[in-house]
Amino acid sequence: MPSFRAPRGTRDLLPNEAARFVRFGRVARDLADRYGYRPIETPIFEQSAVFERGIGEVTDVVEKELFRIARRTEEAEAWALRPEPTAGIVRAYVQHGMQTWPQPVRLAMIGPMFRYDRPQAGRYRQFWQFDVEAIGDPGPAIDAEIIELGHRFYSEVGVTEVEVLVNSIGDKACRPAYLEALVAYYRGHLAALPPAEADRLERNALRLLDSKHPSMAVINADAPRITDHLCATCEAHFGAVRAHLDAIGVPYRVSPGLVRGLDYYTRTAFEYYVAGREGQQQALGGGGRYDGLVELLGGKPTPGIGFGLGLDRVALVLGEQSPAPEDGVPLDAVVVFTDPGASVERLRIATGLRAAGLRTRADLGRRRLGRQLEAADRDGAHFAVIVGDELQEGQVGLRDLKAGTQRLVPLSDLTRELGRAVKQHHHGEGG
Ligand code: HAM
Repeated sequence: MPSFRAPRGTRDLLPNEAARFVRFGRVARDLADRYGYRPIETPIFEQSAVFERGIGEVTDVVEKELFRIARRTEEAEAWALRPEPTAGIVRAYVQHGMQTWPQPVRLAMIGPMFRYDRPQAGRYRQFWQFDVEAIGDPGPAIDAEIIELGHRFYSEVGVTEVEVLVNSIGDKACRPAYLEALVAYYRGHLAALPPAEADRLERNALRLLDSKHPSMAVINADAPRITDHLCATCEAHFGAVRAHLDAIGVPYRVSPGLVRGLDYYTRTAFEYYVAGREGQQQALGGGGRYDGLVELLGGKPTPGIGFGLGLDRVALVLGEQSPAPEDGVPLDAVVVFTDPGASVERLRIATGLRAAGLRTRADLGRRRLGRQLEAADRDGAHFAVIVGDELQEGQVGLRDLKAGTQRLVPLSDLTRELGRAVKQHHHGEGG
């Protein structure tokens, strides 16, 4: 027999970890609702050109990491799995004429992304993002709204001390002159450049700035900085974004070296890190403004800004900060039994309780009562409904597993009695 395994760079989320992701999804959706970002879903694969155009041909994400789907015939369209959601969401914005909706269009998505990267801790080939986009507003206030929303996600999900790094990377007015200065600088260091970087120099010099190649760190330390080459409008925009962040109390640090790995960015760029770890660790999330992307994908010139937060990395950090596994939502009750007769009654009783909204598992096996009660306790259930001989008189046992008390309850009152007991128990916990 072959022994099958999940593909390299992917992993199964078993219940404890999956429960964590489900909770992330709830917090994300709740936040998006609170800020007025409406849900959107786009396909997990798109025409490759959406990513090539949108993200940029000369980026790691497109050049090295795109999961291309093999064509069945020559005529078939070239598809790729989405490495990130922004390009697909903007494609949808253009396709469905969302520029005629009230602007900006605020959208949010939670889902898996795919990058054929070299797997390591915190870097997977399938990973999850919480993504938010506001399309149709040039800022600066919306920039601060989005940065604050991302920051709040971390605190509500339980990650402490997340720091925001912000920068401005200019626009089409000031970027060209900066790129010239950058290319000139790298040409002066041509002999020291790794071959792949030398090759990219003329095609996309900006990518050398966020190169992961170890020997680039020294060269990049003295490279010209975009922040020193911003035009007056970009400078003013950046100042206003910072003023808005100050006004709503978001702690941030200006990071002049921050450029991001995708080509669509203009002006505001930002990343989230665990405080003090931006050297050793990959970003927990990042985003920025993309004022040219809608036009690039066939729409009218429209500004936009958004972020993507890496949920796998949030799970990693949370695992360090609070290692206890997450059990997900505990059961209210388990229906157990004393005699291993017909399972019909157990199932019928559990069905009634579930229909009334109580989280109930029925023990449908044949093991001893002691074992059943242990399992109920392990599942976090507060109560057990015990089906025994008294059922003939229309009664069942209702056992409080935490308190160790037990009483008989008429079957006809069970839903009401258990519902009341569960409510009382939640009050006792202050929730
Ligand atoms: P990104 O910086 O490429 O931006 O990815 C955002 C976040 O996704 C990263 O900060 C990281 O937490 C997570 N991430 C990226 N690659 C991996 C991986 N291989 N394994 C695990 N986690 C990963 C974007 O994707 C942009 N679409 C963000 C954005 C939205 N900009 C504007 N709107």
